[in-house]
Amino acid sequence: MSELPYTSNYPNTLPIWSQLQEHQAKVKQLHLREEFSKDPQRAERFFQKAAGIYLDYSKNLITDETIKLLTQLANDAGLPAAIKAMFNGEKINNSEERPALHVALRNQAAVPYKVDGTDVMPEVKAALNQMERFVWSIHSAQWRGYTNKRFTDIVHLGIGGSYLGPKVVSAALKPYWKAGLNLHYVANIDGTHITEELKHLSPESTLFIIASKSFGTQETIMNAKSAKAWFLRNGGLEEDVHKHFVAITANKQKAYNFGIREENIFPMWDWVGGRYSLWSTIGLPIALTIGIENFKNLLAGAYDMDEHFRTAPLDHNIPVILGLLGVWYSNFFNADSHAILPYDHYLRALPAHIQQLDMESNGKSVTHKGEAVDWSTGPIIWGGAGANGQHAYHQLLHQGTHFLPADFIMPLRTHNHIGDHHALLLSNCLSQSQALMQGKTLEEAKAELKAQGKTDSQIDELAPHKVIPGNRPSNTILFEKSTPRTIGALIAMYEHKVFVQGVIWNINSFDQWGVELGKELGEHIYQIITGENETNGQDSSTKHLIELFKKINNR
Ligand code: F6P
Repeated sequence: MSELPYTSNYPNTLPIWSQLQEHQAKVKQLHLREEFSKDPQRAERFFQKAAGIYLDYSKNLITDETIKLLTQLANDAGLPAAIKAMFNGEKINNSEERPALHVALRNQAAVPYKVDGTDVMPEVKAALNQMERFVWSIHSAQWRGYTNKRFTDIVHLGIGGSYLGPKVVSAALKPYWKAGLNLHYVANIDGTHITEELKHLSPESTLFIIASKSFGTQETIMNAKSAKAWFLRNGGLEEDVHKHFVAITANKQKAYNFGIREENIFPMWDWVGGRYSLWSTIGLPIALTIGIENFKNLLAGAYDMDEHFRTAPLDHNIPVILGLLGVWYSNFFNADSHAILPYDHYLRALPAHIQQLDMESNGKSVTHKGEAVDWSTGPIIWGGAGANGQHAYHQLLHQGTHFLPADFIMPLRTHNHIGDHHALLLSNCLSQSQALMQGKTLEEAKAELKAQGKTDSQIDELAPHKVIPGNRPSNTILFEKSTPRTIGALIAMYEHKVFVQGVIWNINSFDQWGVELGKELGEHIYQIITGENETNGQDSSTKHLIELFKKINNR
């Protein structure tokens, strides 16, 4: 396994780590409300704009000194060299001996990206051209179903990175959808998912995309088989399968064996991780719904962010700042989680994508060398759409006992001008971060109750319930409008944030061995259920539960 020359073995043994610990002891005495009132320039000083993204990070528990120290941590942990290594196509995914070269997929410059000495850009461009031809043939109805009907429905079958990124981005860009084409996603192996999606579809006008880098993932292959069976049961013939099924995979042979014609197999590459793959052919359902030009704009937006990440100084670099703030809270304030709070209906599923991106990447507990870490790594990512969340979990954000940093995300302009909804939405978004930051003091709570005409004893009883501690950190991430370009930049921003943190923590953000174990054990249990394998070796709980399932299902 290759060594990564830039990594700091144990970040918590770096001298800067103890300096940050000492600094934290001072910062935790401060209150953001006072920091804002004594420094009118605070919002300007902790603000960056790049690639169409505005980041206000002034409502964080930081001073100028914090940023200086965190930037030094990034330098001492080898971040500048790591960024170069990623863009140079070095095998930074060292446990799988692969580069993580998703940036090549959105490269807009005439520069090569090399894997093992070979420029991958010609293949990347050829795949994009293949997508373009395909999208055109569907939109122009040159390619039709087996009864010559034009396609009305696309069903994308995939899971994990081969599903969630495209699903979230196509939903985020709904205003750009071409008329006449509906898009459905089926991921879960739960047969209910595919049953419900296919219920109202006609095989004559439905096209399936089987998206699986390996073409071996149990969920996707099972769903693909069920889709094919549905197609054959409802009028399609075996010789029509190629007209209704296309595949995206790095395993051409398996797709071919399934009945897909070679020219309808879109390539994928080992050097693209699943959760970083929406920019590749895996993004085909996005391109089908928003059109190839808009898909290219999505890539261009991601490229804008890549260039910013690659070239901006660390302390002016949005993904670096976000990554370092996350480290600040995880490792110095013991924060366990981070909330993603989009104030945009189109972005309501974004927390799920960022959750997969971050938790599958940085949910690790050994270093690049395989040694156990004794510092916290990736936090729990959770969240949901505002303003809905304000009437649910925000209560805990304001008054709970957990320390929960959050990102508020919102487009400044809306696609849907109706009444004053958007101004009200923004007011909600800003008031939440303001409330988290300033809170409400006991004196304020008492004054409020007095103004309501409460008696002194009522005030004494009620006031403690109304105190909000404040001093709870958040970022506000804004952009002009949800367009392909800004959404591309936004998602690339989070990808790089995750990478920054992986580098500081000296973990491999690009493998997922924990997930692999679940897959292996799942296969084994299935074999026990089907009688192909013995229950021997199973723990008593699992054995007992398998028996219960078999009994209830008469198997
Ligand atoms: O979730 C684990 C994983 O291996 C992801 O990395 C990947 O995106 C997903 O499964 C699906 O894999 P495939 O594209 O090979 O079907």
